[in-house]
Amino acid sequence: MAGFSVQLIKAHGILFSNELIFSSAISRKATVTDIQIVYTSKARREVNDAEIVQIHSTALTNNIQSDITGMLLYAKGSFLQVIEGAADAIDRLMEKIRADTRHYDVEVLVRTSIRRREFKNWSMGYRRLEDADAKALLSFAPFFDNGFDAKRFCEQPGVSLDILQALASQLEEN
Ligand SMILES: Cc1cc2nc3c(=O)[nH]c(=O)nc-3n(C[C@H](O)[C@H](O)[C@H](O)COP(=O)(O)O)c2cc1C
Repeated sequence: MAGFSVQLIKAHGILFSNELIFSSAISRKATVTDIQIVYTSKARREVNDAEIVQIHSTALTNNIQSDITGMLLYAKGSFLQVIEGAADAIDRLMEKIRADTRHYDVEVLVRTSIRRREFKNWSMGYRRLEDADAKALLSFAPFFDNGFDAKRFCEQPGVSLDILQALASQLEEN
């Protein structure tokens, strides 16, 4: 990631640091047909920085075009992602995400209509969670310290959004 130039950062509105990638998106209001989906999945193999940059870069380009916003978290071989936007655009994206061979066991935790975008500042925020984050987010740690735990989330689906929002707030503060 160190190889990314300032020009690229400026051109795409992305800030790269060691464990942090985020991007600003134009402020949006949800439309009546907007929906939000949260899912977990398992990475096919340990995802490295280059692969994450590739996933993020594709997501960013496509999501800007499709007016989709959201946040992607990675922890110990697993993903937790929220995507929000027009129902048809989100359903199309979910089909592509389900078919993506870089991950498997895609488990939808939340699919709901929304009045307001909760991640309106990001076309796609990204954060990789490490042991330090488990210490900093103690009450959430059981949900991600061995990778995102789909079974645990199914019992308390609201926690998935709480975690995504907590991380979104941290990104906004940086
Ligand atoms: C964990 C994960 C999250 C992804 N998130 C997005 C996303 O938010 N937006 C997106 O367009 N593609 C996302 N992708 C990539 C899609 O699965 C797919 O490869 C991509 O949309 C294809 O883009 P294309 O139709 O422009 O070739 C994600 C892939 C993975 C593995």
